[in-house]
Amino acid sequence: GSSEFDLYRPSEEHDMLRDAVRSLAEAKIGPHAAAVDEEARFPQEALDALTASDLHAVHVPEQYGGTGADALATVIVIEEVARVCASSSLIPAVNKLGSLPLILSGSEELKTKYLGPLAKGDAMFSYCLSEPDAGSDAAGMKTRAVRDGDSYVLNGVKRWITNAGVSEYYTVMAVTDPGKRSKGISAFVVEKSDPGVSFGAPEKKLGIKGSPTREVYLDNVRIPADRMIGAEGTGFATAMQTLDHTRVTIAAQALGIAQGALDYAKGYVQERKQFGKPIAEFQGVQFMLADMAMKLEAARQLTYAAAAKSERVDSDLTFFGAAAKCYASDAAMEITTDAVQLLGGYGYTRDYPVERMMRDAKITQIYEGTNQVQRIVMARNLPK
Ligand code: CAA
Repeated sequence: GSSEFDLYRPSEEHDMLRDAVRSLAEAKIGPHAAAVDEEARFPQEALDALTASDLHAVHVPEQYGGTGADALATVIVIEEVARVCASSSLIPAVNKLGSLPLILSGSEELKTKYLGPLAKGDAMFSYCLSEPDAGSDAAGMKTRAVRDGDSYVLNGVKRWITNAGVSEYYTVMAVTDPGKRSKGISAFVVEKSDPGVSFGAPEKKLGIKGSPTREVYLDNVRIPADRMIGAEGTGFATAMQTLDHTRVTIAAQALGIAQGALDYAKGYVQERKQFGKPIAEFQGVQFMLADMAMKLEAARQLTYAAAAKSERVDSDLTFFGAAAKCYASDAAMEITTDAVQLLGGYGYTRDYPVERMMRDAKITQIYEGTNQVQRIVMARNLPK
C-alpha cells in the first residue's frame, strides 16, 4: 500500500544528506581513488574526511555518542562514498557490520565501552565470522573459545577480515560448545591489543584494493568473560541477524559503484565522436544506457525497501536483505561491465575509472554471503 511506499521514500533530510556526502566524496575521497587502487593502500584521506564530518560510523545510536542515522541514511552515505571510491565505502559499511552484533545483542556495559570510541572516530570495528575452511558454511567454524574462570581463551584463524589491522575492535564468532553446530557458537569482542592477536599478510585482490583484507590469528587470546556478546550459544544467530541488516549496506555499495560507472559513461558518450557525431547519438549506445539506468533504478528501489525493513526490523527483512544484496550486486556487475564496453579500448585502461569500478563491483557478488547463498536465504524466507 501507499504507507509502505512512504516508509522508504527518502525524506528531505535524506536528500540533504546525500548532497552533503556527495560534495565531500567528490572533493576529498574521489581524487585519491585511483592512487589508492594502484598502490593498494588504505584510504587514510577518506577516513580523515569521513571522521571529520561524523560520517565514518553514522549508524551508532545517539545514546552511545553516535549520530543515530537510520538505515536509509546509512545506505545513502555508503552509496555516495562508493560512487567515487568503493574501498573507502567499506569504512562506514564495515564499522556497521563489526559493531551491529553488539548493538543488537550486547550488554549496556559493553555497548558503552566500545561504541563510544567507534562513534568518536578513535576506533574502527571489524567482523570475524569466516575461516579458511568455513566460508558459505559459516556454522562449520573451528575457532574455539574455552571458559577458564572469569575468562575465555580463544584459539583459531579468521579469514577475509575486512579492515583487519586497521580496526581496534573485532567481533569474533567462536565455538563454545562443540557438537552443537550453530547453537554452540558465541560472539565476543576482541581488541587488537589483546595479547595473542596478530594478522596475516594483506590479500592481493582483484578490486577494493584500498581496503585491507587479512587473516586474524588468535593464539591463546585470554579475554574477560564479560566480553561475550549476549548469552552463550547465541553467537551464530546474532551473526546471521547482523547480516540481514548489513547485506543492505552491500547493496548500497553496489548501487554507488554502478552509479559512478553510469555517470562516467553518460558523460563520455557525449564527448566521444565517431562517424562524425557523438556516439551518444547512436541508438545502440542509447539502448545500453537505458538498460543500465533501468537496472540501477530497480536495484535502488529494492535496496531502499530493504532499508525500511532494516529500520523497522520487519519480519521480511531476511528475504529483503538477501534480495537487495543479490540483485544490486548483479546489476552493478552488469552496469560496470557495460560502462567499460561504452568506453571501448579506453575503458579497458587505468587511464579511466570504469575498469576499477568493474573490478570493485565483483566483490559485492561474493562477500557477506555469495549470491548463491543469498538464494538459499531467500528460498528459506520467502516474503509473507
Ligand atoms: N536471523 C536470526 N537467526 C538466524 C538467522 C537469521 N537471519 N538465520 C539463521 N539463524 C539462526 C537460527 O537460530 C537457526 O536455528 P533454527 O533452525 O533453530 O532456526 C540457526 O541460526 C542455524 O541456521 P541455519 O540452519 O539456517 O544454518 P545453516 O548452517 O544452514 O546456514 C546459511 C545457513 C544461510 C548458509 C549461513 O551459513 C550463511 O549465511 N552463510 C554465508 C555466510 C556469510 O554471509 N558470510 C559472510 C561473512 S562477512 C564478510 O563477508 C566479511 C566482510 O568483511 C565484508
